[in-house]
Amino acid sequence: MNWRDYWNQDTPIYTGERHKLLHYRLVANDIIGLISSPDAIVLDYGCGEALCRQGGGQMCPALPERCRPLVRDRLKERFGSNPRITVVSTDDVSELPEASLDLIVVNSLVQYLSLDEFRSLLKLSRDKLKDSGRLILGDIIPPDISPLTDAKALLSFAWRGGFLRSAVAGLARTAFSDYRRIREEVGLAQYSEEEIVDLLSDAGFSPERAERNLGHNPARMTFVGRPVQDLDAEDATER
Ligand SMILES: C[S@@+](CC[C@H](N)C(=O)[O-])C[C@H]1O[C@@H](n2cnc3c(N)ncnc32)[C@H](O)[C@@H]1O
Repeated sequence: MNWRDYWNQDTPIYTGERHKLLHYRLVANDIIGLISSPDAIVLDYGCGEALCRQGGGQMCPALPERCRPLVRDRLKERFGSNPRITVVSTDDVSELPEASLDLIVVNSLVQYLSLDEFRSLLKLSRDKLKDSGRLILGDIIPPDISPLTDAKALLSFAWRGGFLRSAVAGLARTAFSDYRRIREEVGLAQYSEEEIVDLLSDAGFSPERAERNLGHNPARMTFVGRPVQDLDAEDATER
């Protein structure tokens, strides 16, 4: 099993319905906080089940192609009647018009990509964003973080959210689940701040680390990439 397949099922990562709901509500509120105009076109790339979506902007949640049987159908069922939300596969994103998006959010996904896949996603994002747009890379796992730190962040979230007992049980389940096995076999990509800054710069973004991470885990990092204008191209059109 790979990470894509792992995420296209009901995973024990969410330790219960309350955890899932509070997680997606927190992420949705963080994303809504990033939307600067009610007309903004927003792509939530690798959105998961995206249980909560409301607020400004045209939302476009994107799921991996192979998610069709489960997660994408659930999203279509949930949002199919909302004219401001279009569910697309991540493969369809390449068909979107160039320079058409105001905001692309990639939250808690980069750890599941190979370096080549990550670079391709950065290039795709650069192509699809308007010059005034922003790419948000959330929940990047730094190299020095241990699974224990993640567990502590989850327990603190669970304590505040009133699902501590199910979180403890869920952590125990995860420790013996496919997640641990795939993590050992395939690994999770971890990046330092400098590495993300370099990757974003190489892909044509001006990078900046956000003050706080999206979601519940303050030990992970969020970055904002703003497209760097192609001055050579601008000079050429002026000439
Ligand atoms: C931890 S979940 C994050 C979901 C959501 N973005 C959030 O913040 O809750 C990881 C997501 O990455 C997606 N994913 C995993 N591997 C992927 C890949 N190779 N390409 C695109 N998406 C992938 C999964 O479908 C899953 O929804």
